Amino acid sequence: MRVQDELQATVDALTRPGRGILAADESAPTIAKRLQAVGLESTPEIRNAYRALLLTTAGLGEFVGGVILFEETLGQKNADGTPLPQCAARGGIVPGIKVDAGKIPLAHAPGDEITQGLDGLAKRVEAYRQQGARFAKWRAVYHIADRLPSRLAMETNAEGLARYAAICQESGVVPIVEPEVLLDGDHTMEHCAETTEAVLHAVFHALHRHRVVLEHMLLKPSMVLPGKENARKALPAEVAEWTIHVLRRTVPAAVPGVYFLSGGQTPREATANLDAMNRLGPQPWHLRFSYGRALQDPVLRAWRGQPANASVAQQALLARARCNSAASQGRYEAAMEPVAE
Ligand code: 13P
Repeated sequence: MRVQDELQATVDALTRPGRGILAADESAPTIAKRLQAVGLESTPEIRNAYRALLLTTAGLGEFVGGVILFEETLGQKNADGTPLPQCAARGGIVPGIKVDAGKIPLAHAPGDEITQGLDGLAKRVEAYRQQGARFAKWRAVYHIADRLPSRLAMETNAEGLARYAAICQESGVVPIVEPEVLLDGDHTMEHCAETTEAVLHAVFHALHRHRVVLEHMLLKPSMVLPGKENARKALPAEVAEWTIHVLRRTVPAAVPGVYFLSGGQTPREATANLDAMNRLGPQPWHLRFSYGRALQDPVLRAWRGQPANASVAQQALLARARCNSAASQGRYEAAMEPVAE
């Protein structure tokens, strides 16, 4: 298949109606933190069992079109010996892979961070493709504070995201471009909106310079929210209005889909906010979810490493995925929530 056709086929598979993406690509330190929160030690066996549980959830493919994996998971197997990417594919879920190598402080820019991982990326992407990955993810983060993020951080991270996206597209792998404006701090919603607009503007400028085909990528942004230490909480209708306002100013209509990260919102907040956006009426792009914590937190709490809890944990995943699928269509109702949660 021609590379362009391959990219289009993956975009089509990911964007099937009513489906979002499950982010299960936590790096070693992050998954250790999540497991520790439910009293589990992060060993290769526990991580394997947990990710197998996620990927073998019957019926998940009705609500989730793709799953983002961490490198380790690509090589792990289910109890019956099936490679985990294949378990996902069997369930109608396209396997993807996180390809960035994490963030480090940006030199000469105190407080800002830069994402690394470009060296040797083309080779790694090709190897991941051989292992079944059809799309990829690269995350850049931006801290909001008095003088942050700096212009330097915005431009350098945008350049990294664009180079990554171009490399992926050359290999026939659809890039998810993830610029995350962090929720930490006491900043206002207006401040978050201003920062997000500047960040997205820089990202799309860089994508253009690197000739990234917008039709063959997905955007994974954060929502416009007040900082989590700000006493003023935002209603879903406000989050929706601000977020769409910023996206309409910065994201070209050629981009097929906007798949939000949850970024520390509670599972129900993330669902209600996405639903409110989709209730504002048609937009140029699909507005969907690519949640990590907002899909997985209830699963981890139900599972706690006990094989006897596996089925209840899978039901918890299915319940969140179903609610978010409804929210992707502006049809979520609080009554859809499982009672016990
Ligand atoms: P959260 O939804 O937990 O923010 O994770 C999404 C993600 O992939 C972050 O890179």
